[in-house]
Amino acid sequence: MKIAVVGTGYVGLVTGTCLAETGNQVICVDINEKKVKMMQEGKLPIYEPGLELLFTRNINQGRLHFTSNLAAALEESKIIFLALPTPPGGDGAADLSYVLGAAKDIAGLIKEYKVIVTKSTVPVGTADKITAVLQEHTNIEFAVVSNPEFLREGVAVEDFMKPDRIVIGTLDERARKLMGELYAPYVRQGNPVIFMDQRSSELTKYAANSFLATKISFMNEIANLCELVGADVDMVRRGIGADNRIGRRFLFSGIGYGGSCFPKDVQALAKSAKENNYDFKILNAVMDVNDIQRAILVEKVKNYYKGDLKGKKFAIWGLAFKPETDDIREAPALYIIDKLLNEGAVLSVFDPEAMENVKGVVGDKIYYANNQYDAIEGADALLILTEWSVFRTPDFEQLDAKLKAKVIFDGRNLYDIQKMIDCGYYYNSIGRKVVS
Ligand code: UDX
Repeated sequence: MKIAVVGTGYVGLVTGTCLAETGNQVICVDINEKKVKMMQEGKLPIYEPGLELLFTRNINQGRLHFTSNLAAALEESKIIFLALPTPPGGDGAADLSYVLGAAKDIAGLIKEYKVIVTKSTVPVGTADKITAVLQEHTNIEFAVVSNPEFLREGVAVEDFMKPDRIVIGTLDERARKLMGELYAPYVRQGNPVIFMDQRSSELTKYAANSFLATKISFMNEIANLCELVGADVDMVRRGIGADNRIGRRFLFSGIGYGGSCFPKDVQALAKSAKENNYDFKILNAVMDVNDIQRAILVEKVKNYYKGDLKGKKFAIWGLAFKPETDDIREAPALYIIDKLLNEGAVLSVFDPEAMENVKGVVGDKIYYANNQYDAIEGADALLILTEWSVFRTPDFEQLDAKLKAKVIFDGRNLYDIQKMIDCGYYYNSIGRKVVS
């Protein structure tokens, strides 16, 4: 099938590349000519495990193309994916100007029936708005389909190639058939393609992310309670996760959820509920809990040093909002860095992928270490903020030798409590007993 993907951000690039991988002809469009040129030269502008291999292969085999010319891209494409940004506007609601702007441009260019698919996370009713814009500017037949992505950064390629489910929101029979054919190779193992109306599909995306964020905030509250009653959140997590109705995943307590999706989507859903005169009480609590949780490690550090962090040197391991990505959007680390700097602390940081991005935001207020052990040289304590695998089994001899004091604050519960007792550390993690 011939496909156009408008917008070559994270979602657009993964979508375009993975659609090419099953034999489709894909042309990706972006207004950023510099970026288009870079991709035409075979350079991938983002880091995502496994993507480069597919990207290069599909370019070399002539199935994946890039252009800044929307008209040319639309000409032969039957299906047009919109993967444009929908940033939160000033009032917390998603800003649809890119999506609706593209719809208008597309309306002026199409000459035959097209299926226009929204991949961006958009509020309920957006497909209707896109339809209205198109109807206003063209007489050509078209269908607007909602097809939310459920890609996790770091495993986006795998998620795209073998999705748990595909949600397709359309009541247009032709579009339904085409979308079903397009996705058939991705669900050969039997996972469902769920067809529904556009509004249900749009809401499905927000409901999924908000439910997962709810699980996290719930576990963070359980963790906080564990600390007060002397229970261990890891045990509680395993105890409840073994119940199939609850499930093992997304039960890890920590320093709050971050990233480009959860904070934005929970906020947008709460806002959309409010606009419909519905007070979504749980979502408001989920957000409140997350705000508090982001500050919890700083509170622990402050308590340990009796409120005085002036001149204290802290090493930070992990900056990205989660492992296997260089993404720092809404990363708890940024928030914690800011708080610690305000308290007069001196920081030395290391992350396997996110250093450059943090430099761009935080600048030279902190020291960017060459590796994880360089970061801890002479530090009063180590703070762990992202659960990268390399931090899971550190060389304790180097830790002992380089840290000024054997003190670790772990926002991701990486280490075994007994091990820390044996190694003689002060070890303060989330929802577990403090080792001192
Ligand atoms: C998420 C959704 O998983 C994906 O389906 C959606 O399409 C986009 O948003 P992503 O933002 O890549 O994907 O990150 P994810 O792995 O889901 O983690 C989100 C945040 O939750 C991270 O900050 C992570 O640290 C936190 N988290 C996750 C926890 O605190 N505890 C957990 O148990 C799981």
